[in-house]
Amino acid sequence: MPERRPEGLGRTGSPLRVGVLVSGTGTILQALIDACRAGEMPAEIVVVISNVPGAFALERARAAGIPAETLDHRSFPSRAAFETALRTTLDGAGVDLVCLAGFLRILTPGFVDAFAGRLMNIHPALLPAFGGKGMYGDRVHETVLASGARVSGCTVHFVTRDADAGPIIVQAPVPVEDDDTPATLSARVRREELRAFPLAVRLFAEGRLRIEGNRVLVLPAAAGSPPRTNAPAAPQDTAAGPETRVHLRAKP
Ligand code: GRF
Repeated sequence: MPERRPEGLGRTGSPLRVGVLVSGTGTILQALIDACRAGEMPAEIVVVISNVPGAFALERARAAGIPAETLDHRSFPSRAAFETALRTTLDGAGVDLVCLAGFLRILTPGFVDAFAGRLMNIHPALLPAFGGKGMYGDRVHETVLASGARVSGCTVHFVTRDADAGPIIVQAPVPVEDDDTPATLSARVRREELRAFPLAVRLFAEGRLRIEGNRVLVLPAAAGSPPRTNAPAAPQDTAAGPETRVHLRAKP
């Protein structure tokens, strides 16, 4: 077992082993791959699993030399059997953290409980608004536009039994413009998603996240640890300007 910091999630010492579940093009997976490669976080992606055969995310993984597997949910007799296969593959890879990066399957309580506190998802809106069952892809942005909201954004959160309701780790807002379409709003949100998920993984890998009820506290960086070059804004950097703005609901 990896040594755990007493005060926060994550680990110290060897790099955090990350498994990524995908269903689509893998733009967020690519952001995680790039951040790991750039040395922005003490983590390595050790396996990528797609439930959709031929998903482009698998190509991205293979191009980066990461083991990539397809577990087509339709080829399993039940949801439980599919999730057993997922767990076997993730456990076999020795993952410490599982990231849902555009993974379009609802996971059952059994799976969620098995990875409690080490299962993260990204959602293309500011939760707890515009989330829940059936809210994914363009439907989220259509609903935001129809609501008249002036602000949208993205949320990285720990996954719990209730869809899109787990403790929030990172949020990044974007404006909603009068002439936005679902496509233009989605593109603006996506730019923030590419920054937010690597930041959340980095904070976890640095052992700086602590879950208290439905809140996540972000612990200060360890004394003497050098700032990571090119890393997205950490909590104490929130004055760094719009390009690096990541709102964290925690004090440094
Ligand atoms: C993102 O919008 C994310 O919020 C949603 O899926 C999209 C990422 O898909 N869950 P991908 O990484 O391009 O496959």
